[in-house]
Amino acid sequence: MTTPLYETIAELDQRYVLPVYRRQPVLFVRGVGARLYDEQGNAYLDFLAGIAVCGVGHCHPHLTKRICEQAQTLMHTSNFFLTEPQARLARRLCELSGMEKAFFCNSGAEACEMGIKIARKFANAIKRTPDYEILTLEGSFHGRTMGALSATMQAKYQEPFKPLLPGFRALPRNDIDALRHAFSERTAAILLEPIQGEGGIYPISDEYLQEARRLCDRCNALLIADEVQAGFGRTGKWFAYQHAGVLPDVVATAKGLGGGFPIGACLMRGVATEVLQAGEHGTTYGGNPLACSAALAVIEIIEQENLLENAARVGAYLQTRLCDLRAAGAPIREVRGRGLMVGVELTQPIARTVFQKALERRLILNAVGETILRIVPPLIITEPDVDEAIQILSEVFEEV
Ligand SMILES: Cc1ncc(COP(=O)(O)O)c(C=O)c1O
Repeated sequence: MTTPLYETIAELDQRYVLPVYRRQPVLFVRGVGARLYDEQGNAYLDFLAGIAVCGVGHCHPHLTKRICEQAQTLMHTSNFFLTEPQARLARRLCELSGMEKAFFCNSGAEACEMGIKIARKFANAIKRTPDYEILTLEGSFHGRTMGALSATMQAKYQEPFKPLLPGFRALPRNDIDALRHAFSERTAAILLEPIQGEGGIYPISDEYLQEARRLCDRCNALLIADEVQAGFGRTGKWFAYQHAGVLPDVVATAKGLGGGFPIGACLMRGVATEVLQAGEHGTTYGGNPLACSAALAVIEIIEQENLLENAARVGAYLQTRLCDLRAAGAPIREVRGRGLMVGVELTQPIARTVFQKALERRLILNAVGETILRIVPPLIITEPDVDEAIQILSEVFEEV
């Protein structure tokens, strides 16, 4: 049963919005915590969180208040001038990440793009190796802009847009021998996600990250961590590389950083901070007071509500419950991930059907390809939320 409002909006969408997204027939009008509500007032349990964005839940009162206050005070000035939220957020991000400088942008792709530009100029101007290579991993995802896309080693995203930016080379994930063979003096950087997200939730091992760090030090190359999806508390630490005890040279972050308000940041330390000079990079909206106030509020909420600890604990519980489902006969091959970044590999190509059936029962998940379910709920979820989701999933598995 649809409503007149639904009909109107669906028609407008179909007529005027470029159809590059596969829309579901659901119209959301508000959100609270881990729930979204459609125009008829039906509540959905949101285990997607706007694709790993709404870490502090929907419309958290503290985040909403800070955005409203800032919107009434100062929204935008340009980067020609100092503003208080940007400077304060830069300090907090450096403290949390172990980096030394922050550059602000508006999305994950832009944060990765900045990392790629740093690597390229580092190779040209500091290393003086014009035939440099930037190493990336098979199955990676770094965004849709041309630089980030050229680093995204998945044919379905790259094929339509060739020729791509040259200089990237893909390595098999978690293959330490291949990593050792690939590194040379020509290596400008390695760009990787500590847990691959869009590729299907594949954790990169601590040993692999540690070896990448060692090889970067030996070959004078930059370790660039794409933390756009895994960062900002999702895995139980602020950044996923912190589990491996390595410190990258450059960190790309976005998604959870703004809790729903668009903002990205590229963080860096050491020689990476010396690469770009005034005028060599920038963006109009980057680090505007409104976006930075939102991100500061997100950090405060994560700290005040112990959400790192919650993500680790409830994430472990979620994985245990999923493994129980498998033991009870559900078509699950593997459960993997860390904290609240969980992938469920199915034994049959039914991920899209499972996603659809779960949505009909008002549980929001995500299918990555035909066989993998991605579960990236808000960091505020509780064990009872997990129980509810598992109950729905078990019914769906029975049905399909
Ligand atoms: C690891 C990673 N990097 C980069 C991006 C691109 O971010 P955005 O969509 O904000 O441009 C994504 C988006 O899914 C991502 O998961």
